Formats: sequence, C-alpha cells, structure tokens
Amino acid sequence: MTNFDGKIALITGGTSGIGLATARRLLDEGAQVIITGRDKSRLDAAVEGLPGDRVLALRGDAADLSDLDSLTDAVRERFGRVDVLFANAGVASFQPGADVAEDEFDRLVSINFKGVFFTVQKTLPLLSADASIVINASWTAHRGMAGASVYSATKAAVRSLTQTLAAELGPQGIRVNSVSPGYIETPMFHENVEPEAQADVLANVASGRFGTSQDVADAVAFLASSEASYINGQDLIIDGGLVSAIPA
Ligand SMILES: NC(=O)c1ccc[n+]([C@@H]2O[C@H](COP(=O)([O-])OP(=O)(O)OC[C@H]3O[C@@H](n4cnc5c(N)ncnc54)[C@H](OP(=O)(O)O)[C@@H]3O)[C@@H](O)[C@H]2O)c1
Repeated sequence: MTNFDGKIALITGGTSGIGLATARRLLDEGAQVIITGRDKSRLDAAVEGLPGDRVLALRGDAADLSDLDSLTDAVRERFGRVDVLFANAGVASFQPGADVAEDEFDRLVSINFKGVFFTVQKTLPLLSADASIVINASWTAHRGMAGASVYSATKAAVRSLTQTLAAELGPQGIRVNSVSPGYIETPMFHENVEPEAQADVLANVASGRFGTSQDVADAVAFLASSEASYINGQDLIIDGGLVSAIPA
C-alpha cells in the first residue's frame, strides 16, 4: 500500500522538468496519472520514458479554455474523477520591465495565471471529496528579482489564488496548497540561466546547489498526500534557502 494507490492524478505540463518528475513519483506510489502538454511528440516521448501502463497523455494548451473543456471531458469519461490536481504548466521569460511588450505580457499572464485559474475551475466538478490541489508558483513570488516583473507577478497571483481556493474549497474537504521552487535544473532553467551566469546565481543559494525536479516532486507528493491532511492554503518554498538565508 502506498500513498496514491488507486488515486487519479492530473498534472498539467507533465512532459518535462518538474511535471514529469512528479508524474514519475506519483506513478511509483500507485497513482493513475494523466499528463498534459501542447506538443504531441513531447507527450509521446514522456509516456515512453515513464514506467508501467498507468499513464495517459492528453494534448492541450492550459491557456485555451476549449482545450481545458476537452481535457476535463476526456478525464471524466475515462476516470470519472480527479483526486490530485497539480496545476504546473508554466512558461518564463525575463527582461527589464521597461522592455516588456504587450504580447509577451499577455502570453505569460495567459498561461501562468489565466491557465492555472481555469484549469482549477474546469476541474472542480471532477474533484473527489478529499481531493488535493497543488499549484506551482515560484520563489520569485517571495523575493524581487530584476527582470522578472511579469513572471513574478503571475506567480504571486497563483499564490494568492491558492489562499482563496483553500478558503472556498476547505469546507468541502478539498485542500489547496502551492509550491514555490527556487532554481531547479529543468529545460526552463537552462533556457533562462546562461552557463556563464550560473556561479553568480548559485552564490545566492545557501544549500550550495541547484534544485532538481525530484526535490520539487517530493514536496508536491507530500502536499498531495494524506500525510499533509491538515495543511491547507500554504506555500512550500523549495529553494535551498534562496529566499530566506544569505550565504556567507
Ligand atoms: N525550473 C525552475 O527553476 C522553476 C522555478 C520556479 C517555478 N517553476 C515553475 O515550475 C513549472 C514547471 O516548470 P519546469 O521548470 O519544469 O519547466 P519545463 O521543463 O519547461 O516544463 C514546462 C512544462 O509545461 C508545459 N507547458 C508550457 N506551457 C503550456 C501550456 N500553455 N499548456 C500546457 N502545457 C504547457 C510544457 O510542455 P509543452 O511545452 O510541450 O506544452 C512542459 O511540460 C512552471 O510553472 C514554472 O514556472 C520552475
């Protein structure tokens, strides 16, 4: 018997990085896992790399409401419910606030905030009585970083959303928490942190290493599990000390 035996887990953005590691962790613990992403070939590759036959990949853009309808329809038809929702799909880009163009602002807000908001809203009718929602925020919701104005604001928005949803859904027995990863070595990290900048970035991390997708997957699995049954409306920062500790 493991924490997620027989549970149905929906993970948006499950083809890479943190979402993929969380899919693997929940599969290892007995869940039936549904992963999403925008790209069919990346979905196929993710399924190929995951163990067993308890994973279903569904193509869809988390920022597109009709895709979300199709996704939730497919999950309803196949499984009838969702026990764990990890609203993880997100994108990042960094530039000084003075240089942010309207279309880039809209892209980030659309995927990182609107996408998470409607992913949760559309999944609500499927949530089981003791379901758990985990939302992927970011350390940048907790500490200002030059160049991160729009990205950080989208993450602060989902952090706030977590608290409101906890208040709205708590009385039904549904818990809502968020995670705030620090610098986690995923494709997103490598797209945004140049190799020559990494030593300076790492100097801010008290633990002296970048995080792994597994570090975050372990925290998501804990928050989603019955071991966290009295944890609601919280944000768990997984950052090696980046936000709260200044290394010598
Ligand atoms: N890595 C870090 O240092 C870090 C730190 C703090 C927070 N985070 C957050 O962690 C989450 C996962 O990031 P990651 O680092 O694991 O990045 P990643 O490796 O780039 O993975 C992002 C995942 O999201 C999917 N995705 C992106 N836009 C989507 C959309 N519109 N609809 C559906 N799926 C979408 C991607 O698949 P497709 O591209 O195929 O759609 C991919 O599966 C993000 O919300 C990110 O903001 C990451």
